[in-house]
Amino acid sequence: MSVNIPRGTQDILPGTVEKWQRLERIATDICRTYQYKEIRTPIFEHTELFQRNVGNTTDIVQKEMYTFTDRGDRSLTLRPEGTAAVVRSFVENKMYGDPNQPVKLYYNGPMFRYERPQSGRYRQFVQFGVEAIGSEDPAIDAEVLSLVMDIYRAAGLKKIELVVNSLGDQESRQAHREALINHFEPQIGEFCEDCQSRLEKNPLRILDCKKDREHELMKTAPSILDYLNDYSRTYFEKVQSYLTALDIPFTIDPTLVRGLDYYNHTAFEIMSSAEGFGAITTLCGGGRYNGLVSQMGGPDAPGIGFAFSMERLLAAIEAEGVEWQTDDRLDCYLVSVGEKAKDYTVKLLHDLRLEGIEAERDYQNRKVKAQFKAADRVQARFVAVLGEDELEQNKINLKDMETGEQEEIPLDELTSTLLKKLEAK
Ligand code: HAM
Repeated sequence: MSVNIPRGTQDILPGTVEKWQRLERIATDICRTYQYKEIRTPIFEHTELFQRNVGNTTDIVQKEMYTFTDRGDRSLTLRPEGTAAVVRSFVENKMYGDPNQPVKLYYNGPMFRYERPQSGRYRQFVQFGVEAIGSEDPAIDAEVLSLVMDIYRAAGLKKIELVVNSLGDQESRQAHREALINHFEPQIGEFCEDCQSRLEKNPLRILDCKKDREHELMKTAPSILDYLNDYSRTYFEKVQSYLTALDIPFTIDPTLVRGLDYYNHTAFEIMSSAEGFGAITTLCGGGRYNGLVSQMGGPDAPGIGFAFSMERLLAAIEAEGVEWQTDDRLDCYLVSVGEKAKDYTVKLLHDLRLEGIEAERDYQNRKVKAQFKAADRVQARFVAVLGEDELEQNKINLKDMETGEQEEIPLDELTSTLLKKLEAK
């Protein structure tokens, strides 16, 4: 019986993996210029971490977690997102004691959610995210947003839209929460079961319901922006003014609530407006989570971050038809004629590779003509041909495949000659 790949997962094969690597390079290079350092946390965590901190009423916790009991009878969960784990690590490793605050971190790794797979939605996907923990300066909110917009710009995306909202602080949220309950309660019987159970637990999430999106009460629901207290309003205005100063266009959507419980103040999503991108248009989501660090037993350190999946970034790139300049040409292919020359290329190949030259030889016992064909297939820039005669005379024939020029050079000068020629290309 053959075994297939699990639903909602994918193999990333050579040919595509180079695109991932390029995007990862772009993202990590930009993180370096912004002074964010990489953090790697485990793939699984105690289930409690997500239950308590992503939120018990969220879809992620209620329906989507890959939870299992290990042989020591512990309940563990494959991480559905990165923020909770990064904050756990921040607290556990006492990063709040670092004199360099805020602590600026980025991560890149697989996340797991038991969702209904469709285009742009997987059960295993790779999130690239950042978290800046330890500052409540609206300028850091703007920095985080500018960082992700820079990544998208460098990846070649043009058709993207940043949508922001403020969820306010505790006091503003409480006032808004009461207004929402008063608004929905009289007619809650007309809403879906999820919304009914959210009314008391988390009425904000009603605004995010897909099923009842068209209900009249949704359109007239009280806006959080009318309930922001002075501090929250000023904070949000500052974030907006920094975004304007950075030339980052944005729209405000007071119904943007996000699907995780830890957010307050700034919340945002970045959408693709590329035609043919598919039904799910959200590329990136994030926001501020003051209170999460203290909830995990740390000091009262505020935080903000975002995450996007590499899968959706790639899909947006394809939908926009961005040209890729992937350079996967080989530097040098070694062609050998005769047994002795073939044996000699084992060491010669290694010498080239030690100098950083991308090199290859034949392992299929091919004839000379077929070796040249193989060199063509991998788009070799140079082909070096070694026959028995050349080997005896300590020489090798070097052919530039672009110009067709050939020359015979001393065998021990192959590496240095190639290095010079490749640099001139
Ligand atoms: P999230 O909105 O749940 O936020 O996910 C962020 C991003 O992950 C989405 O915008 C999307 O690009 C990607 N994503 C989510 N689920 C899937 C899926 N099933 N398949 C493919 N891509 C997916 C968070 O996870 C927060 N931790 C973000 C954050 C960081 N907030 C503050 N810091």
